[in-house]
Amino acid sequence: MAADFVAGDLAGLSPSAVSLRESWDVLPATVIAEIEARTGSIQSVRPAQVGYSSHVASTVHTARGRFFVKGLRTTHPAVQTQGCEAAVNPHSVPLGPKLLWRIETDGWDVLGFEHLTGRSADYGTESRDLSLVVGVLTELGAIEGGGAPVSRAEQRWAQYLDPTRARLLHGDNLLHTDWNPTNVLVPQAGSVRLVDWAVATRGAGWIDPACWVVWLVYSGHSPDSAERWAARVPAWRSAAAEALDFFAGVLADHWQCIAVNHPNRMTYELRDASARWAAYRRPGD
Ligand SMILES: Nc1ncnc2c1ncn2[C@@H]1O[C@H](COP(=O)(O)OP(=O)(O)OP(=O)(O)O)[C@@H](O)[C@H]1O
Ligand SMILES: [Mg+2]
Repeated sequence: MAADFVAGDLAGLSPSAVSLRESWDVLPATVIAEIEARTGSIQSVRPAQVGYSSHVASTVHTARGRFFVKGLRTTHPAVQTQGCEAAVNPHSVPLGPKLLWRIETDGWDVLGFEHLTGRSADYGTESRDLSLVVGVLTELGAIEGGGAPVSRAEQRWAQYLDPTRARLLHGDNLLHTDWNPTNVLVPQAGSVRLVDWAVATRGAGWIDPACWVVWLVYSGHSPDSAERWAARVPAWRSAAAEALDFFAGVLADHWQCIAVNHPNRMTYELRDASARWAAYRRPGD
């Protein structure tokens, strides 16, 4: 259990998630030809500096401009997330980057996006980015997602749900759910954008600020401070305390499962952050 975890357990673990990343050169010539048919001749390729869940994730430069290319081998179980990103795109634009094309050929599933500029968000306790993230969460909360062909929250977290309480997560908001700060791009000027809609979901609007709370605690906030930031998002204020108590426990179980399946420093720290928040919300604690 996360509550029994001691800091010494971190010794010897990789500092971050185990990456799936491979070099751009692993793409077959047939796939490159299909990409160039859509982008023009590739002049240079710059691998993404963060993230780890795609085999290939790179910015491609051509005479027609820059494109962001994200690919997974079709033999990998996570390839289904490419379908989720493609399906949600008409609903997530303009908060998310526009999907320009998808190629499924020769063992690869490759998405080509509009290229965005910006650095990863900083969730530190003194960060000026926190109010920008509140802004983006507020914008997202206004998007109706009932028609988006992605999983419902009740299905997404089904393995951790007591079926009699699953209805607490029900709703028709479009949810991003992966509040890793590398998925929030903060440009020098202009609007904050959200990338990586691989696990987009439909559900109650307060679920996104609740998912953010775990990342805030992971980034150094106390549960109380994290909740005060989340409370600036209108959707959070619509949540019943019972629903938040319940979902904090669901997220703790979820991160526990991720840590078991992907043992590394980052997942252990997220597991501990989510357990800390769940304990904070547990009635009587
Ligand atoms: N459209 C885009 N334009 C510019 N940069 C992008 C774009 N999409 C993603 N990026 C950058 O590339 C990084 C990796 O992309 P993304 O998060 O979509 O994939 P991933 O690495 O497979 O996911 P994960 O974060 O789950 O490991 C992002 O954190 C971001 O810095
Ligand atoms: Mg990402």
